[in-house]
Amino acid sequence: MSRRIAAKITGVAGYVPPHVVTNAELEKRVDTTDEWIRSRTGIRQRHYADPGMGTSHLGTEAAKKVLAATGTRPEEIEMIVVATVTPDMMFPATACLIQDRIGATKAWGFDLSAACSGFAYALTVGAQFVGAGTHKKVLVVGSDVMTSILDFKDRATCVLFGDGAGAVLLEPATSPAEGILDFAHDVDGSGGTNLYMPAGGSLHPASHETVDQRMHYVHQEGQQVFKYAVRRMADMACSILERNGFSSSDLALVVPHQANLRIIRAMQERLGVDDAKILINIDHYGNTTAATIPLGLVDAIEQKRVRKGDLILLISVGAGYTTGAILMRWAY
Ligand code: UT7
Repeated sequence: MSRRIAAKITGVAGYVPPHVVTNAELEKRVDTTDEWIRSRTGIRQRHYADPGMGTSHLGTEAAKKVLAATGTRPEEIEMIVVATVTPDMMFPATACLIQDRIGATKAWGFDLSAACSGFAYALTVGAQFVGAGTHKKVLVVGSDVMTSILDFKDRATCVLFGDGAGAVLLEPATSPAEGILDFAHDVDGSGGTNLYMPAGGSLHPASHETVDQRMHYVHQEGQQVFKYAVRRMADMACSILERNGFSSSDLALVVPHQANLRIIRAMQERLGVDDAKILINIDHYGNTTAATIPLGLVDAIEQKRVRKGDLILLISVGAGYTTGAILMRWAY
C-alpha cells in the first residue's frame, strides 16, 4: 500500500536568537572543556534566547520568514502545527500565540509534543491534511527554547542544547515526482524516563520540593539514549529506503536530527554514504530539539545541496522514545 502523501514543502526558513555561546564561554560556567564537548558531541557553539524570549517568539520569526520567502499572505494559512517541548506556557498552545502574531486569521492549530522527533511528527500530521485535500496551505513550525529547562549543574546534558526555530510551508503536490513519498514513526514509551522533565505537569505540579529537587529541568541518561538513537536512526533509515525500493545511493541528502555527531556518523556508516550526503550543522547550533531538521533544511538550501527532484531523507530519534523518518522528493 502506498503511503505517499500528496503534499510538498514549498518553503523553509529558520531563526536562531543572536546570542552565541561558544564552548569556551561554557567553560566559565560549567565544569567542562571545549575539547570534551567537541570530541564527544561535535558541538562548537549554540544560540541562547535572551530572557523574555519564548518559543513562540522564535517560532513567529521563522514563520514570518517562510511567509515572506514564499510570497504567502498570513490569511492564506489554514492550519499551524507547532512541535515543541518548551511551550511558552502549558496553555494556550504556542500555535495560538504564533497564529495571532503573524495574523493568520483563518488558521486553526495546535502544539505537538514529540521532543526531538517533533518536527517529523508535525510534518506528517500537517501533510495529511494537505494530502487529504482539505487544506491548501499548512505551516509546520519546530521551535524550542531548551535553555529554559537546562540544569547548568548537569554538565553532561546542559552543554548539548541550544535554542532555535524552523518553519516550512506545505502545499498540495501535483505530481508523484514531488512531495512526501513515505513516512515512518514509532514510539517506545519504555524509554520515557531516560530523557524527561519530571515536574511541572499534573503528576508533579510546581512546588518548593520540585524546585529544590531540580525537577523542572531535562533529566537524561545519556548513554541509554545514545545507544537507542544509534540503533534506531540507522535501522529506520535503512528500512524506509528498502521498503520504497531505494538504496542509499539514490539519496541526494539525509537531514538527520542533530543530537550528537557520533550518532549521525554511526547512521552514516550503516548507510554507507559519503559526507556530501549528510547535513551536519550541530557544530553551529547544538541540539535545538524540534528545530534541528528545519534548520538543517535551511542550510541545505543555502549551501545548494538540494535540487528539485532530489530524494531527501529526514530522520530523528528523541525523548519518548519517539522516532521519525520522512522520505521525499524535493519540490523546488
Ligand atoms: O536529542 C535528544 C536525544 N539525546 C541524545 O541523543 C543524547 C545522547 N547521549 C549523548 O550524546 C552522550 O551520552 C553524552 C554526550 C550525553 C555523554 O557522552 P558520553 O560519551 O556518553 O559520556 P559519559 O556520560 O559516559 O561520560 C564520560 C565521562 C564521565 O567522566 P568519568 O566518569 O569517565 O570520569 C563524565 O563525568 O565524561 C564526563 N563528562 C564530562 N566531562 C567534561 C560528562 N559530561 C562532561 C562535560 N565535560 N560536559
